[in-house]
Amino acid sequence: MKGPSPSIVIFGASGDLTWRKLVPALYNLYVKERLPQEFRIVGHARTEYTHEQFREHLHEGVEKFAEIDSGSWEQFAKNIYYVQGRYDEPGALQKLNDFVKEKEPANASRLYYLAVPPTVFAPIVNSLGKAHMARDNDRWCRVVFEKPFGHDLESARELNAIAHNVLDESQIYRIDHYLGKETVQNILVFRFANAIFEPVWNRNYIDHIQITAAESVDVGHRAHFYDEVGVLRDMFQNHLMQLLTLVSMEPPASFNADALRNEKVKVLASLRPMSPTTLADHSVRGQYEGYLKTDGVDPQSTTATFAALNLFIDNWRWQGVPFYLRSGKNLAEKTTDIVIHFKCPPHLLFDLDSDKEMSANYISLCIQPDEGIHLRFETKVPDTDSRMQSVDMEFHYSEEFGPMALPDAYERLLLDVLQGDAALFTRADEIELSWKLIDAIIEGWQTEYAPPLETYAPGSWGPQRAYNFLDNVGAHWIMGCEEHD
Ligand SMILES: NC(=O)c1ccc[n+]([C@@H]2O[C@H](COP(=O)([O-])OP(=O)(O)OC[C@H]3O[C@@H](n4cnc5c(N)ncnc54)[C@H](OP(=O)(O)O)[C@@H]3O)[C@@H](O)[C@H]2O)c1
Repeated sequence: MKGPSPSIVIFGASGDLTWRKLVPALYNLYVKERLPQEFRIVGHARTEYTHEQFREHLHEGVEKFAEIDSGSWEQFAKNIYYVQGRYDEPGALQKLNDFVKEKEPANASRLYYLAVPPTVFAPIVNSLGKAHMARDNDRWCRVVFEKPFGHDLESARELNAIAHNVLDESQIYRIDHYLGKETVQNILVFRFANAIFEPVWNRNYIDHIQITAAESVDVGHRAHFYDEVGVLRDMFQNHLMQLLTLVSMEPPASFNADALRNEKVKVLASLRPMSPTTLADHSVRGQYEGYLKTDGVDPQSTTATFAALNLFIDNWRWQGVPFYLRSGKNLAEKTTDIVIHFKCPPHLLFDLDSDKEMSANYISLCIQPDEGIHLRFETKVPDTDSRMQSVDMEFHYSEEFGPMALPDAYERLLLDVLQGDAALFTRADEIELSWKLIDAIIEGWQTEYAPPLETYAPGSWGPQRAYNFLDNVGAHWIMGCEEHD
């Protein structure tokens, strides 16, 4: 990659994210010759490390999470430094700034990565402002905010206000690593680079859409954090809303960041808010058995570890089409997929066996772990009058492009920040609109209109009400990505 020589400054560099994701991703970019020839990575945190100790610590992570080659590691590691310090004291960042300036050429650009707990985002941004590190006319400065960005609408607005005090929106990159996944980006290619799907991608042909993001693990060591957050904040406000917008947005005028994000914002602005009269029927909440006995969890906790929502988008394309979203912990499988369920043919010419129903076509967009696309359609069974059977056309990334075809999401996202492409990052208005929707549901769940909080067995697909959630459209949850194997 050509271009200015960036200094990549990671706050919270002693933490898990830096070790497991950020530095392995930067190393892979280096090996693929996608980083500029000159760059430097400066870690900053309170923990004491010498430069050499920090490199050794990161080496372990790269060995574990990337295909390491000792020659390239040594070359790469020469660009890594560490500065110990705090973020929130007067003049705290001066030492860091002086160090980075000493190592970089005069016109070097700056990427600041906030790999710290969200409570520290605001103090660091304020300190960057006070130390005059955030804006410079001669070079770009960009700041990456990890998720979660706020824990409700009010806190997200506050954080946006603090960030906008110091930074221009164009300098802010709010990360949702789901958007860095190839299979998520492929939703746009599938929809907008093929002429055959878009004409039927609307209320005239689509019966309903299902989005599942299931986790098989329980809350584990995140129990205390999770108990304050719950599944709606942890999964719906960010990942599921992003999948929903990508699958339902209008074609943007270009793949330019603002054109794309404008369309996503229009979807979020058209989402029908839940009302007290719809809340109980249009949402399900569950908690897995044993959750209350977990260390770090309040024994009286009513935090939902599972939710299903029935949402509607009030616009021309989607009026009346239900979107069913579900996510939870401790479920039967780890899987993320989107099922586009088409309407049945209006008139059936063929006799069906008395115990059979007409099957509708559907497309499954498999985000993980079976990354690919499946199309289900009906076919005639040979040597019968007109018996039909559902069959699948399948595309699997690993079969088509090999097992190493899918880079980690952070590789793509870090490269996009270095190149100034914010298309896969969430804009301020986008994040506020999704919090607004989720906040209203969380608040509604505290009232008499809430659906019951049902327990579910670990390893199941959630509470019983979730199983019957699609009854009103005569459908059931489809695991499109695995049923076709
Ligand atoms: N880990 C992941 O896979 C992952 C995935 C998605 C999102 N994230 C997000 O990425 C961020 C970092 O995650 P992480 O897992 O690396 O977190 P972490 O290990 O808890 O924190 C990273 C570092 O931040 C510093 N830190 C912690 N508490 C602090 C405080 N109160 N004040 C100042 N510094 C503090 C610590 O360094 P010192 O004590 O040395 O200063 C710590 O090593 C979080 O916002 C998280 O939500 C992480």
